[in-house]
Amino acid sequence: MARYAAITGTGSYLPETVLTNFDLEKMVDTSDEWIRQRTGIAERRIAEDDTATSDLSVQAARLAIKRAQIDPLEIEMILVATVTPDTFFPSTACYVQKGIGAKNAAAMDISAACAGFLYGLDLANGLIVSGQYDTILVVGGEVFNNIVDWNDRNTCVLFGDGAGAAIVQATEEPKGILASYIGSDGDYADIDLLGIPAGGSRMPVTSEAIDQKLDKIQMNGREVFKLGVRLMPEAAQRALSKANVSVEEIDLLIPHQANLRIIEAVGDRLGVPREKVYINVDKYGNTSAATVIIALDEAIQDGRAKPGDLILLVTFGAGLTWGSTLLRL
Ligand code: UT7
Repeated sequence: MARYAAITGTGSYLPETVLTNFDLEKMVDTSDEWIRQRTGIAERRIAEDDTATSDLSVQAARLAIKRAQIDPLEIEMILVATVTPDTFFPSTACYVQKGIGAKNAAAMDISAACAGFLYGLDLANGLIVSGQYDTILVVGGEVFNNIVDWNDRNTCVLFGDGAGAAIVQATEEPKGILASYIGSDGDYADIDLLGIPAGGSRMPVTSEAIDQKLDKIQMNGREVFKLGVRLMPEAAQRALSKANVSVEEIDLLIPHQANLRIIEAVGDRLGVPREKVYINVDKYGNTSAATVIIALDEAIQDGRAKPGDLILLVTFGAGLTWGSTLLRL
């Protein structure tokens, strides 16, 4: 019997505090009009000071576990995609394990920036289809507010905090992950393109580094924009052709929520009509590894994604990294 990996439950959690564009107008030289026109973002959520990525992830995971109707003890593997771990080590996945009481699981983090959740799904798919595991929790979670320079208008208007989670389980029905593709290109592992220079083994966090804001996100927005618009349609096509599915068959496209103009360009390049493209970047901004799973969860909860639907997830991020997943819900 063939084995497939199906998503049997999803959950998401967004912190309650809303930071609007009007709030940002009081912090940096920007305007609601500029942010809406250039990014499509109206507001984003900000975690409380004492809240870490695992706290948001645990909330999202509990919902996914409840909806999958499983016991946390059934979970055999926890994969947390994040670039904002609670600590360098232990892994955020271990804190999530403790928070949900999944004592029988192995736990580890995945570092693939905004593409991290689809990296996690790809791994979960391989581990389930091979027969190694039956039940895996995949989380995308981020608390960006600590790594954003709140004086840098080029970046601070873009990001938000949040988490999403999926329970992935073995099934013999031909559904779930029909095709998955991930890729990366380390030639673009350039800290000035998108990254944080200080805080790793290359550059410690010294007072000079802090003065130069090298412990905060650096980004060349224009270059990242162009790469995203090129890479996401290419990645999406790879999953479609692996599954021998045409773009017309897709019920819903969920692209990485970084910028409305990127999302629309990706939909247009793929030939997906606007009404089939899921958008929530207006409410949450870019939550990095969490965007696609928060969007998938919302789409399921609000009925935009129904059992039997064909859903295409696509993302890209620092590294560069990218990925696409074709799902039959
Ligand atoms: O997950 C991946 C993470 N990153 C991304 O996806 C980011 C991708 N890039 C983008 O979304 C866009 O490039 C941005 C939204 C970051 C910028 O939009 P843009 O249309 O590429 O603007 P730009 O960088 O070309 O800047 C245009 C102007 C500049 O002023 P000058 O040089 O023309 O005088 C900027 O200084 O807009 C200025 N600007 C702002 N003005 C008001 C930049 N940020 C702001 C701001 N408010 N927040």
